[in-house]
Amino acid sequence: MIGDNQLHKLTDLFAGMIGHRPTACVVTFGCQMNARDSEKLRGVLDDAGFKLTDNEKADFVIYNTCTVRENANTRVYGRLGQLKNYKKKNPHMILAVCGCMIQEPGAAQIIRKKLPFVDLVFGTFNLYEFPALMKEVLGKKLAGQEEPVIDVWEKESSGEADSLPSKRTYAFKAGVNIMYGCNNFCSYCIVPYVRGRERSRNKQDILNEINRLTQDGVREVMLLGQNVNSYGKTLDEKVSFAELLESIAVECDLNRIRFMTSHPKDLSDELIDVMSRYDSICNHLHLPVQSGSNKILQRMNRHYTREAYFELVEKLRGAIPDISLTTDIMVGFPGESREDIEDTIDLIRQVGFDNAFTFIYSKRTGTPAASMPDQIDPQTASGWFDQVLEAVHETAAARCARFTGTDQAVLVEDRNRHRGGWLTGRTQHNLLVHFEGPADLIGTCVPVEITESKGFYLIGRRV
Ligand code: 5AD
Ligand code: SF4
Repeated sequence: MIGDNQLHKLTDLFAGMIGHRPTACVVTFGCQMNARDSEKLRGVLDDAGFKLTDNEKADFVIYNTCTVRENANTRVYGRLGQLKNYKKKNPHMILAVCGCMIQEPGAAQIIRKKLPFVDLVFGTFNLYEFPALMKEVLGKKLAGQEEPVIDVWEKESSGEADSLPSKRTYAFKAGVNIMYGCNNFCSYCIVPYVRGRERSRNKQDILNEINRLTQDGVREVMLLGQNVNSYGKTLDEKVSFAELLESIAVECDLNRIRFMTSHPKDLSDELIDVMSRYDSICNHLHLPVQSGSNKILQRMNRHYTREAYFELVEKLRGAIPDISLTTDIMVGFPGESREDIEDTIDLIRQVGFDNAFTFIYSKRTGTPAASMPDQIDPQTASGWFDQVLEAVHETAAARCARFTGTDQAVLVEDRNRHRGGWLTGRTQHNLLVHFEGPADLIGTCVPVEITESKGFYLIGRRV
């Protein structure tokens, strides 16, 4: 794919038409999967000869969308609407929309009808066709044709975007897809519909990709999948996630290995054992619980109980006493009552999460929960949300404070945006640390004494 002459030529012709080297901006909505896909989109654009920028007033703009909650869609439509006037004045501009929102039935037609100035629409299943789609849309622009390119597939195919070039956001850390799609069908979730059935990547391909990354200076990888604990189930040669993780810890030269997301129903003893044995595997686990009520967990089709979750936490803390646990929590699920919310708050306090992403349930058309009776009114859900958030803040602050006075290895990510001469990095527990230091430390791991806890982040001093 790299060095696609035809694509280069078309980019050159486009540059000639607009009178300068074209710029491109990829705007990402949503999760780490989308962030990783965007790196591939940037890789293809960069490879084709576009100059990458963060400015949305670019010659080629791509919105990589999310649809997990309704407000994600609203934001995309709002931003697209804002670009309309800019595009009117700059008709050469190419505007593309891709990602999860596009895989919803009817989304492409809505865009075509209501936002006719969008030039290219494609989904998650044909992301790997992006170079070919670019050629088509550039060809049309050069020929002065207005007709948009719309290519949305209903199902996943055997092709994936693994071999596309990629332009990483960070030089020293990278996301690596280990699997795509999800088979769990949690009753509220649209992901299985817009990302398709679960399919795992071959183990050796993953190891090769990580080894290429480490040769390129990467020190930390995040293994990505909707449910990494069921990795390997679709492969001819069965490999468990624990085996994959151990192979990476043994064979790849990394300081830090992270992974997400883990479904509690599939978290194995074998995995806990591997996590406890390798220093390079971070002492942090993101383990979405969603609710503390057994009634709601059952309606969500989560296949575990609060008691089973407590048992898991006990096992994890038994094997890795210092582990940080983070989670996702949803409030306002159909049929939820005050007692269910109290169960959730009680679970948050009992577990003592290091942090949690909290969401108000959002009805997604086509999912089983959308047609369940007793949908919760937004005001009630919002009141519950505030109470759940308060409990999260309390436990997070208490957990964060345990680091005060300790020395932590911090992987330095960037200059601190608010304080000149300061840097920002992360501990292996995934907490942000701000401290004073020179910019040449970016990308390295340095020891930092934690002097103050700010509830969700830390202040430190280099030792
Ligand atoms: N409404 C609200 N939150 C949702 N999530 C998934 N689907 C929905 C929905 N319909 C949340 C879950 C999941 C996280 C990625 O997003 O908590 O773990
Ligand atoms: Fe959605 Fe459940 Fe799959 Fe996560 S495990 S992506 S919440 S269906």
